[in-house]
Amino acid sequence: MRHLLSTRNLSRDDAVRILDIAEDMADVATREVKKLPTLRGRTVVNLFFEDSTRTRISFEAAAKRLSADVINFSAKGSSVSKGESLKDTAQTLEAMGADGVVVRHPSSGAPQTLAQSGWIDAGIVNAGDGTHEHPTQALLDAFTIRRRMHGSAARGRDLDGVSVVIVGDILHSRVARSNVWLLTTLGASVTLVAPPTLFPVGMGTWPADVRYDLDAAIDDVRPDVVMMLRIQAERMRAAFFPNSREYARVWGLDDARTARLAPGSIVMHPGPMNRGLEISAAAADSTRSTVREQVANGVSVRMAVLYLLLAGGGEV
Ligand code: NCD
Repeated sequence: MRHLLSTRNLSRDDAVRILDIAEDMADVATREVKKLPTLRGRTVVNLFFEDSTRTRISFEAAAKRLSADVINFSAKGSSVSKGESLKDTAQTLEAMGADGVVVRHPSSGAPQTLAQSGWIDAGIVNAGDGTHEHPTQALLDAFTIRRRMHGSAARGRDLDGVSVVIVGDILHSRVARSNVWLLTTLGASVTLVAPPTLFPVGMGTWPADVRYDLDAAIDDVRPDVVMMLRIQAERMRAAFFPNSREYARVWGLDDARTARLAPGSIVMHPGPMNRGLEISAAAADSTRSTVREQVANGVSVRMAVLYLLLAGGGEV
């Protein structure tokens, strides 16, 4: 694997292999010394053109646990705000000897552009591009689901027979897109629930069922997994629903809906959460919630990805 840009082209075997390596990496996190020498002498640059807390810190922790040198480059306060192009930035990183570049960018396709440009030789990891994809988020979500479903017998397994309902701002969500491809590749069935205004056009080709009624979806699908998405107000330049209270009432995971979920089912959210809007505080903090596990698992999954890209981990 040279770059990780999307989950769309990952095969089932590739995906299972990444999740299995992430299990090995998670074992490292339980040791007294949480560090492997694997990427000693390699340089990973976190190139973030968009705000991020979790994802940037997670990649930084992952690279450091593999003993890489890490350079954090955020577009704010850099020459990018003076109009330097992506090409010039890439060539600067190349000159600094970056082996891996983790990119978050507000424009869909920016990481692909970097990977295909020839401006830089480094392995590129997409850490979220516009409303397009966020492959490591989908991988950590799949890892979290697989662990909750199969416990210590998770290695080698896929998500065959698991039903996942993804709810909310599908239109702006790169997390939803990457999850639709990855979870279905792994054998899960995916149902998307949102108000009609928050579905993108062209969704007819996605391997997912579409519903507008959350209560009906919970009762009919009896999902193993309910994944709530953040309302991405910063990407909304129009009114997509009447008001916050109405959205929470109709499409939010409130306490009553959480109580109706099947035994053993889980509640996920990629963060950051709007508590009281798409998810109630009680749902976010319930024993069904995997929100904190998702964050912890993110480090293991990103270690696996950096290992495969930069340590000559072989072809995925
Ligand atoms: C997501 C993102 O940035 O795409 N968050 C994340 O990576 N943890 C989802 C979101 O911002 O709602």
